Amino acid sequence: MTDFITFRTVNEMRTQVATWRNAGLTIGLVPTMGGLHSGHQKLVSRAAKKCDRVIATIFVNPTQFGAGEDLDSYPRTEIEDCKMIMDAGGNAAFIPSVSEMYPDGFATTVQVAGLTDMLCGATRPGHFDGVTQVVSKLLIQAGADMAFFGEKDWQQLAIIRRMVLDLDIPTKIVGVPTVRDEFGLALSSRNGYLDAAQIEIARQFNVILRKAAYDIAAGGFAADECAKAAQLILDAGFDRIDYVECRDAHSLELIERVDDEETRIFAAAYLGPARLIDNHSVS
Ligand code: PAF
Repeated sequence: MTDFITFRTVNEMRTQVATWRNAGLTIGLVPTMGGLHSGHQKLVSRAAKKCDRVIATIFVNPTQFGAGEDLDSYPRTEIEDCKMIMDAGGNAAFIPSVSEMYPDGFATTVQVAGLTDMLCGATRPGHFDGVTQVVSKLLIQAGADMAFFGEKDWQQLAIIRRMVLDLDIPTKIVGVPTVRDEFGLALSSRNGYLDAAQIEIARQFNVILRKAAYDIAAGGFAADECAKAAQLILDAGFDRIDYVECRDAHSLELIERVDDEETRIFAAAYLGPARLIDNHSVS
């Protein structure tokens, strides 16, 4: 095991990546906003299985947060994060400042049309433009062979795949299945905002979605099953539904009844201080 390295600048990271490349090593990248949990560790360990060296990035990207969202309260736990990256088999962390990523005069946007309009894009305008802006930069900065993203953010993953294809970015994008607690709750840095009673409520989210997915797969009309699931989520104690929708897994087009195409159910709902998202296969 090589010593763990922390890069603060793009130059430092690029110099090390060049050294690794000259030694014939492959590079895996795991972009994160920090606040790591075992879901992130799974991304790192998957990257370590596929690549010789793994860099995780820790950057709470201000451009993907809207007004009134949790930019200021987002967990910043750099020391613990680096330990978790190392324990999962990562070799380095890239932890840039905001001015390193967006120096004075920064003026470039990256926008993927279509896929960003629905689901989270509909209620978080500009969110995915911030994601594509920062992820395109990270991919170009690191020049990694592969980059790893969690399937919990399925829409984000679909958008990043489209962007990489459209911009000829030579990094393979790898989706990694969602890590869940023993009750099926998808792990998220934002779960840390919930108290014990809210966690109990949050654990109903995946149960209700799985049942809806099952009923749609069994021939139910998607819009009806999604409406039933939305009501059940509210009955379980959530404050507000953002969406519960059944869509094609790749084009993200709305689906009425399942056919041969890969279909998923997607949901976002508010519970106390947190906005939870999840998605499940309908098959
Ligand atoms: O999924 C996340 O944590 C973020 O959206 C990402 C991909 C690290 C970009 O800031």
